[in-house]
Amino acid sequence: MNILILGSGGREHALAWAVKQNPKCDRLLVAPGNAGIAQIATCLPCDIDDGAAVLALAEAENIDFVIIGPEAPLANGVADDLRAARISCFGPSAAAAQLEASKSFTKEVCDAANAPTAAWARFTQPGPAKEYIREKGAPIVIKADGLAAGKGVIVAMDLEAALGAIDDMFGGEFGAAGTEVVVEEFMDGAEASYFILCDGKNTLPIGTAQDHKRVFDGDLGPNTGGMGAYSPAPVLTDEIAARAMAEIIQPCVDEMARRGTPYQGVLYAGFMIKDGQARLVEYNARFGDPETQVLMMRLGAQALDLMLACAEGRLDKAQVNWADDHAITVVYAANGYPGSYTKGSVINGLDALPEDSHHMVFHAGTTAVGDTITATGGRVLNVTARGDTLQQAHDRAYAMIHDIDWPEGFYRRDIGYQAL
Ligand code: AMP
Ligand code: GLY
Repeated sequence: MNILILGSGGREHALAWAVKQNPKCDRLLVAPGNAGIAQIATCLPCDIDDGAAVLALAEAENIDFVIIGPEAPLANGVADDLRAARISCFGPSAAAAQLEASKSFTKEVCDAANAPTAAWARFTQPGPAKEYIREKGAPIVIKADGLAAGKGVIVAMDLEAALGAIDDMFGGEFGAAGTEVVVEEFMDGAEASYFILCDGKNTLPIGTAQDHKRVFDGDLGPNTGGMGAYSPAPVLTDEIAARAMAEIIQPCVDEMARRGTPYQGVLYAGFMIKDGQARLVEYNARFGDPETQVLMMRLGAQALDLMLACAEGRLDKAQVNWADDHAITVVYAANGYPGSYTKGSVINGLDALPEDSHHMVFHAGTTAVGDTITATGGRVLNVTARGDTLQQAHDRAYAMIHDIDWPEGFYRRDIGYQAL
């Protein structure tokens, strides 16, 4: 079959790498892609947030199956446009993608499903929000309701910070995303992510992972899109995961179906775990980046079969062939990220690295200039390895990173520390 993947990050390189290994894949196209993806697939320019543009590309290239990577095309209804044209695709409708695009929507679904999550309230005016915050006290969490590229959440440790966040959000710091604000109870505990395929009705977990959001070692410095990840995440034990499926995931999926907006795609659940129980922090309507890099490293070619089963509503008959393995990915970012950084520096040493089922460098912000690879994004490379133990995967990834010659980049040296 002919497959089109939408996106240009390390997540999409990892998806392309796994899909490409499956014999069902005849032609692989990625829009717009990056320099690493171009080594294994045909990359084509396209405004992937525009359903008409994606549909035109899919029809022109005779595409049988579309995999949507990022959240923006999902929130814009690209999956709806494709399905309306009878092109099979992996990813939720715009209505179902509200689980990521609106925090208050998610909280309403959780309440209806009786799923454990933080107590919350929604505000459209600063006065009542501040009154609520004064009543509840700090620590407390303030969230812009809409999509804010991962920056719309303020965990306020004192009252002053909380009230300031209200002024900032209603002052327009997050644009339209902040015209509604959710104020939430602060939850304490260990965070982990759970990835679950849903076909509208059936659910199938495909792995756990832990991200590293802060830019510097020891979880210091500002938040980023994620500086590294590993899978599995031992804090999300089988027992806690099974309970979360029964108490959180399946009830929310059932509630989405009951509302007439069944959820089809991957549900990325962020949990806060304490005293043997998970509570929901948030849902994302897509795969995580960089978590996908470790999930795909572990799943390999079967990832395509699972995504097809998901799109075709037959997850009840699908199963994951688990290997007793571990994977880790270390993000190599441009100096200055997540602040401003320069573009165009040259990365050397990639050609000499091993590339096999245990070692891969997934590209994120890269561009090929002739035969050289240049850095053109904040997060640039995802150095990824698999092993029988997390330590082995860790040592393999860091050995690869030492052989990359890129003085303009930096990486965290402690990825996986929580589990090592
Ligand atoms: P979100 O975008 O909702 O995932 O929030 C981003 C980050 O903020 C999460 O990964 C948590 O670290 C933190 N966070 C969000 N909500 C809460 C909460 N209710 N209690 C504590 N931390 C939270
Ligand atoms: N790694 C965090 C995310 O994909 O949202």
